[in-house]
Amino acid sequence: MTHTDPALPPTVDFPLRKPGVPFPPPDYADYRGRKGLVLSHLSDGKRVWLVTRHEDVRAVLTSPSISSNPEHKGFPNVGTTLGVPKQDQIPGWFVGMDSPEHDRFRKALIPEFTVRRVRAMKPAIERTVDAQLDAMLAAGNTADLVADFALPIPSLVISALLGVPPADREFFESRTRVLVSLRSSTDDDRMAAAKDLLRYINRLVEIKQKWGGDDLITRLLATGAIAPHEMSGVLMLLLIAGHETTANNIALGVVTLLTNPQWIGDDRAVEETLRFHSVADLVSLRVAVQDVEIAGQLIKAGEGIVPLVAAANHDENTFECPHAFDPSRSARHHVAFGYGVHQCLGQNLVRIEMEVAYRKLFERIPNLELAVPTDGLDIKYDGVLYGLNELPVRW
Ligand code: HEM
Repeated sequence: MTHTDPALPPTVDFPLRKPGVPFPPPDYADYRGRKGLVLSHLSDGKRVWLVTRHEDVRAVLTSPSISSNPEHKGFPNVGTTLGVPKQDQIPGWFVGMDSPEHDRFRKALIPEFTVRRVRAMKPAIERTVDAQLDAMLAAGNTADLVADFALPIPSLVISALLGVPPADREFFESRTRVLVSLRSSTDDDRMAAAKDLLRYINRLVEIKQKWGGDDLITRLLATGAIAPHEMSGVLMLLLIAGHETTANNIALGVVTLLTNPQWIGDDRAVEETLRFHSVADLVSLRVAVQDVEIAGQLIKAGEGIVPLVAAANHDENTFECPHAFDPSRSARHHVAFGYGVHQCLGQNLVRIEMEVAYRKLFERIPNLELAVPTDGLDIKYDGVLYGLNELPVRW
């Protein structure tokens, strides 16, 4: 769809993640070089502003005139949201709230994700990763690293954090897997899996209310800050936000390390993988609730905004040689986890999961190699996140 207003920049096609187009799409560099912002229309016809420069993405994500609430008219819809439609209507889904409503949830959860707290989880994460590797090694000398390694790890880690009993973790893992398998599950499958998980989570909250335990749910209930009916939204958000995002980074990072083996064993590869792949390019969607100017461009109240974190993380004004994978650079100011009040709550946990996953994988299988050429990798084009459908490896 195009427009006829000469005062507006010409529209561009979006989303740009398509078969045959490398990621991040080369067009992002062109957009960063343009004056102001880039105008596009989504498939539902809504007008959206694409934000591609690092400083502009940070400006959008900290502007009080810009909202995260999908109920505002004009909020961009980029298709299937993390696999489950309408999940943002669950009470407690705080990523879709603005201050001050959002602050209560964020404040109650911050203590669960401090560096100290997640470091204490490291031995349990190591055991989880080892168990996946034991199973892979016992099964032969080939594997699909997405299904056999990258997807189960975050799901098992989050289920342990929530206090899911070990006997139920297999159920929990298999249901969460359906949510993210866009290729092998239908919308109905995903809705059914989401319902099963919600039912399970509600039951778990009841059990923790009654018996307690050494887990996040018990501690969160004890704060009194979150009502029992909001708990399921909070817990589903933790589960969904931390599952495929982490898995995609683990899988893509393995490919990058196998093709840049000089960085295997260097923990700095974790931060650079987050920047380099920027899997959550389409996650931080926003809408203007008042007229606001970003990069000299007037965005009118009710217009959608798509800050593209992959474009920002490859901005040549912020990162030298941004298209090179170089863990020796200082990548910490990347925006792969977003920026501002919604910046990823699970980032300390992710860093440990990725570090343990890479270290254990390459220590225990030093002769690991890709079983397909890199240009034959099965890339996900249809979801919100950038990642791989499958990663065949052998040793
Ligand atoms: C928020 C990325 C893993 C929990 C976000 C946001 C991004 C992001 C971009 C900002 C959303 C926005 O601006 O609207 C990632 C990436 C991950 C990852 C790339 C893995 C590499 C995790 C994990 C957890 C988690 C493991 C928890 C276990 C959350 C939560 C929010 C969030 C709860 C919402 C925070 C808020 O609204 O205050 N994440 N995430 N994420 N993430 Fe992550």
